[in-house]
Amino acid sequence: MQDPSVEMRGIVKKFGSVTASDQVDFSANAGEIHALLGENGAGKSTVMSMLSGVYRADEGEILVHGLPVKIRSPKDAARLGVGMVFQNFRLVQSLTAAENIVLGEKSSFWRGNKWIKNKHREIEGLAERFGLKFPVDRPIWQLSVGEQQRVEIVKTLYRGADIIILDEPTSVLTPGEVEQLFATLQVMKQAGKTVIMTTHKMKEVMASSDRISVMRKGRMIATLATAETDELELARLMVRREVEITRQEREASVGEPLLVVNNLDVIADHGRKVLDGLSLKVCEGEIVGVAGVAGNGQKELAEVLTGLRTWKNGDIEFDGQPVKSASVRGAIDSGISHVPENRMKSGLAGRLGSVDNLLFKSYRSDEHSKFGFLKAAKNRSWSQALVERFNVKTPELDTPVQQLSGGNQQKLLFAREVSHQPKLMVAVHPTQGLDVGATAGVHDLLMELRSTGSGVLLISEDLDELLQLSDRILVMYNGSIIGESDHEHADREHIGLLMAGIQNKEASAI
Ligand SMILES: Nc1ncnc2c1ncn2[C@@H]1O[C@H](COP(=O)(O)OP(=O)(O)OP(=O)(O)O)[C@@H](O)[C@H]1O
Ligand SMILES: [Mg+2]
Repeated sequence: MQDPSVEMRGIVKKFGSVTASDQVDFSANAGEIHALLGENGAGKSTVMSMLSGVYRADEGEILVHGLPVKIRSPKDAARLGVGMVFQNFRLVQSLTAAENIVLGEKSSFWRGNKWIKNKHREIEGLAERFGLKFPVDRPIWQLSVGEQQRVEIVKTLYRGADIIILDEPTSVLTPGEVEQLFATLQVMKQAGKTVIMTTHKMKEVMASSDRISVMRKGRMIATLATAETDELELARLMVRREVEITRQEREASVGEPLLVVNNLDVIADHGRKVLDGLSLKVCEGEIVGVAGVAGNGQKELAEVLTGLRTWKNGDIEFDGQPVKSASVRGAIDSGISHVPENRMKSGLAGRLGSVDNLLFKSYRSDEHSKFGFLKAAKNRSWSQALVERFNVKTPELDTPVQQLSGGNQQKLLFAREVSHQPKLMVAVHPTQGLDVGATAGVHDLLMELRSTGSGVLLISEDLDELLQLSDRILVMYNGSIIGESDHEHADREHIGLLMAGIQNKEASAI
């Protein structure tokens, strides 16, 4: 038996009344890819954050290469060769990729040309060795999410990490990028590094990992060899109940046109055209899926429809009325809900609790306030009911939502957005970061909206999700729709090709 490169023994971490890590034992070996699984809120990120010095354990012991160590800060962790790639990247947007990577290095205040050139070469060499391509000399804000992740990974490698932790690395990637990432992880493994990864995607775990550890409610339940287990066993260990993956019957329910967009042009902040003559239609009781690689205008489309962004040319009609200008209030009042891409940036107020976040859009309604005063008791019980219905795990109703696990934040956001029966739901990557059960819950909700006559615009990179839910799938590329297909005729490969911008005569009709 090989000695583990990292070992955690009896680790306890409490946040107030929540025991996020309850006597956790965990170990990983050099040259292995070790997946950490568990439902939303199981404690995965917490445990990994203690290894990387973001949190300190209340109790327990950590050993690196067989020696007991104290990890009090990310710097301590880096010195011990532990590096973590977080779910929300921590890059400085205005600096270049290379600058971000060398940031904090002692000599980096002296930036002579030669020094920079050498650094660029060194970074490019490292990136190439691990199959991580990105433009080293461009500022971060110009890079795609996938590229930013590569910068983060190279940053940990540059700092000499041989134990690399990735927290849900694939939830922000396209299928092609996921494959590239796994190729990189293989190179790391061959190079004798220890790779630890959390994810909710079982297929990825089965295809890429050597061993799997499963957490449930703060406890480490089991560690298994990937070759000796299967998805069903893992699902059982995670939730201790049978997970049913039901497929709903689809009844045609498409009604009148609800949203009609014609020839929309949008210019982005950096002056580039991000929507280019885009046209689409969503009817009542219809789920329209938008497939596409991130960065092809999906985010901007969602922003225009929810009043967050203005447009240059084109017409938008909603519920029979022309929309004249961008207004968030106007969008909310006319019945448009939004589950945005970045929930902490534009969806939730992190320091506030669940009640305030749930009331955010509707506090002015008669239901929630009278003569300008909030109906406190009523709003609390209303919130409590929503939290229960959507199975949001939070210690108290007033716990700041930034303390909830990623999946529970997403559930809370959904609860708010469907609580007032929207006419149109604009959902961007709605199941990103959700576990199997919660994902099924969101899918059920979208189908429920559809069957009660709401329209849904579902923007996602998850083709399985799109194929399962959408009445029609549109493919977005370079700011316009370059292909369309209905539920029955949708073909995965063709859509994949279109997503990559590969268009031939037959493909455009999918
Ligand atoms: N800073 C914090 N303050 C208070 N509670 C916290 C904090 N961080 C995490 N928790 C709580 O600890 C528990 C475990 O959360 P954690 O983020 O580790 O879960 P996770 O397994 O990573 O879930 P997900 O899959 O949703 O990301 C949750 O109940 C969460 O609310
Ligand atoms: Mg997490």
